[in-house]
Amino acid sequence: MKDTLIIYDSVFGNTAKIAQAMANALEEHLDVDVRVVGEVFPEHLDRIKTLIVGSPTRQFKETSALDQFLKQIPAGTLEGVHVAAFDTRMTSQDVKKNKFLALMVKIFGYAAEKIAKQLVHLGGKEIVSPQGFFVTGMEGPLVEGELERAADWALKTIQKA
Ligand SMILES: Cc1cc2nc3c(=O)[nH]c(=O)nc-3n(C[C@H](O)[C@H](O)[C@H](O)COP(=O)(O)O)c2cc1C
Repeated sequence: MKDTLIIYDSVFGNTAKIAQAMANALEEHLDVDVRVVGEVFPEHLDRIKTLIVGSPTRQFKETSALDQFLKQIPAGTLEGVHVAAFDTRMTSQDVKKNKFLALMVKIFGYAAEKIAKQLVHLGGKEIVSPQGFFVTGMEGPLVEGELERAADWALKTIQKA
């Protein structure tokens, strides 16, 4: 059994790097398991204290693989589990370059908030606000300093626990 499970999806590798930076920071304090969504099975969700879930924002929400994964978790599974959600996303400067995209982002938002809602719906207790980490352009690389920011954000899940 692990104290914290981090589940992520990633297309170009940026979200994977963020998830790993979080795991590196947390494992100095507790047991952490970090898994890509395709490698998570029901037993991994058993008796965890904290669940952190992250995805690239793709068309204003999480990847369909992560969405499908969350949808097949039975109701109430996360009862008593501390949860936190994150995403990776374009910078606001890049979004503003395209007026239509900027409008759509304003209306539909990002993946992290949607993931957080799903986790709470499954019974989880949200302990840290959803957070977005920035990539350059559409595919990355990560903006400088985001790995450190991710580590700091993940550490808040311990302080709030
Ligand atoms: C098809 C596609 C749709 C995207 N949609 C959004 C979006 O709605 N909002 C946003 O901020 N970034 C969007 N992006 C940029 C992704 O968030 C970026 O590729 C992702 O953060 C990279 O993470 P990854 O390397 O883990 O895949 C999109 C990128 C692609 C390729």
